[in-house]
Amino acid sequence: MSALPQPLMTPIDANAPVGVFDSGVGGLSVLRHIRARLPQERLVYFSDARFAPYGGRPEHEIEARALAIGAFLVGHGVKAIVVACNTATAAAIAALRSAYPSLPLVGVEPGLKPAAALSATKIVGVLATEATLASKKFLALRDTISAATQVRFVLQGCAGLADQVEAGALESPATQLLLQRYVLPLLDQGADTLVLGCTHYPFVRDQIVQIIAAHTARPIGIVDTGAAVAQQLERLLAGHAALRTGAGHVAGFSSGAPAALADAFRTLLGVAIEVPPALPDRL
Ligand code: DGL
Repeated sequence: MSALPQPLMTPIDANAPVGVFDSGVGGLSVLRHIRARLPQERLVYFSDARFAPYGGRPEHEIEARALAIGAFLVGHGVKAIVVACNTATAAAIAALRSAYPSLPLVGVEPGLKPAAALSATKIVGVLATEATLASKKFLALRDTISAATQVRFVLQGCAGLADQVEAGALESPATQLLLQRYVLPLLDQGADTLVLGCTHYPFVRDQIVQIIAAHTARPIGIVDTGAAVAQQLERLLAGHAALRTGAGHVAGFSSGAPAALADAFRTLLGVAIEVPPALPDRL
């Protein structure tokens, strides 16, 4: 008997760029893992700073922004999109998948599974935006992992924290206070593992570690999924024979102030990029 015909895969131009987006600069915590793992790729980063933060917005607004940004990136010829935002993934990855069924898409979800595997106390704290924690997608993931592992997830919405990172106020007293308010109750409830469920939070990881050290001598694990996202992107591109060779490149676009995005690339990643002053497509 002859083999069944395989569905034809749309060929992808390996030299096309990968689009990466977030509500603001948080996605740079994912982009740095992508650059480290796939230095030969051309990356186009979109910061939706004019609409940041997403965390307090209703799902339909976040979905509309994600679709507009998706169209912008597709207009730039991207071969794949990384939704480098937990909040946008929860609200809009399904809509993006139906809008672009043949485009490789990678979303970001809070790392509940690796955290559950790490936790000895079986209590895991999850730091994320309120929109992520209220989303059906996140709650379904929590219920599945909880049922499979008997781990209890303690959820902590972190209103205002992404704004502090957006403002570059990583070490300000206000950021310190917010972190204490959000992290300490999780430790007091017995969590031995914390999930950074928002891509802005890896930029205050050192501050979180200091707050933990000042509060308890217990070892506390911290999980974020940037490296796993880069690995998944590599897997998807390899599956489409679409990994690029040669020198990589990063370009940036912002719906807000272009200089702020260029500053963030410099201060958070040590990378110099030029961000065009106006968006061509009136995003
Ligand atoms: N960086 C985003 C996330 O991963 C959202 C931050 C925000 O815009 O509220 O959820």
